[in-house]
Amino acid sequence: MKKIMIVFGTRPDAIKMIPLYLELKKYNQFDVKLCSTGQHKEMLEQVLEMFQVQVDYDLQVMQPNQTLENLTSNIIQKMRDVLQIEKSDIVLVHGDTATGFATALAAFYQKIKVGHVEAGLRSFDKYSPFPEEMNRVLISDLADYHFAPTKQNVQNLLNEGIRKENIAQTGNTVIDVIQYTVKENYQFEEEKLQQIDYENHRVILVTAHRRENIGIGLENICDALNQITQQYSDVKIVYPVHLNPKVREIVFKKLEGNSNIILVNPLGVKDLHNLVNKCYLVATDSGGIQEEAPALGKPVLVLRKETERPEAIEAGTVKLVGNETENIVKEIKLLMDNPAEYEKMAKAVNPYGDGKASHYIAEFLLKKLEIE
Ligand code: UD1
Ligand code: UDP
Repeated sequence: MKKIMIVFGTRPDAIKMIPLYLELKKYNQFDVKLCSTGQHKEMLEQVLEMFQVQVDYDLQVMQPNQTLENLTSNIIQKMRDVLQIEKSDIVLVHGDTATGFATALAAFYQKIKVGHVEAGLRSFDKYSPFPEEMNRVLISDLADYHFAPTKQNVQNLLNEGIRKENIAQTGNTVIDVIQYTVKENYQFEEEKLQQIDYENHRVILVTAHRRENIGIGLENICDALNQITQQYSDVKIVYPVHLNPKVREIVFKKLEGNSNIILVNPLGVKDLHNLVNKCYLVATDSGGIQEEAPALGKPVLVLRKETERPEAIEAGTVKLVGNETENIVKEIKLLMDNPAEYEKMAKAVNPYGDGKASHYIAEFLLKKLEIE
């Protein structure tokens, strides 16, 4: 049996790694362990609860208002202890978070192989998204095997000199998840979502949490949302607010008094996916939501200046709108007022695979871990 350690720490890592954990568990050639760094706490618990899985290790590193330096060094230290006990054959990390990067480095120090899930995404801007772009570049250097969602992600890795035989194009494991979460007659768990009259309102789902937006960018975004509700009486904006205190301070200060803006705590994954399915459009700086919403046929306005996910932009369902108030208002109005523009964007596009990404990763590992 080959010993595989799957590591995650944030909400998106968990959503995208647990399907892989469940798949690998089906193979009797693998002894699979699950480790959470605990970079997130409540937002991670929600995901674990939905999938009904328990971790083998929880490093509990989260601190309120944590700094990147503390977070990264704590994870490296604590992962070392776990890896020394487990002596895994391979450690699988995800994406671009501090958890992914610090874990890959800790595994390298123990001379343990690293597999990188969601590899090859690039914005080509060192400081945006910050620090995620550099995290994923550094993980690519540390990793032995690279699981890239799309052809373009594969090409980015090849361009950096990574050998073809160590890359697999698998699709994104998030597509494995949405096919099970979205239901036509879904009942929301969150009461505030149950109360919305979806027949007579156009719902705009907003999320914004990225470090580079915190400050003036997030204030601009909130100003734009207030302007939109002043201009359209049939609009309800739903904003599930990330638990980062820096995000909450700005968002609640700017939006709390507006009765057409529904501020909710982070939603369970099922609620979130079904809200995407029911809404009129999405405005977000999230990475994962840029993958999910196109698959559900919803226009996405990206509240950032760049994206590492150009596939849906090329397909026309995602548009970059930045974080200036005037432009955000302009782009939302275009989709509200112009049915042709809306129809152009509201088409189901899924560049992220056939929902079997976890299976392809498992098969690749089976082959690689047996021969080497
Ligand atoms: C992290 C990732 C980012 C990802 C995001 C997903 C890094 C560097 N960034 O950013 O790529 O998009 O997660 O949401 O890895 N907090 C809680 N409870 C929680 C989660 C967070 O209270 O369950 C608060 C804490 O005060 C914490 C702060 O949020 O210190 C920031 O969390 P952190 O993981 O450092 O950054 P994110 O912005 O969440
Ligand atoms: N998500 C969720 N509840 C929320 C907001 C997001 O379950 O209130 C899910 C969303 O469906 C997606 C993932 O969290 O799968 C994206 O996480 P986030 O935006 O925090 O991180 P990013 O993808 O930007 O790194």
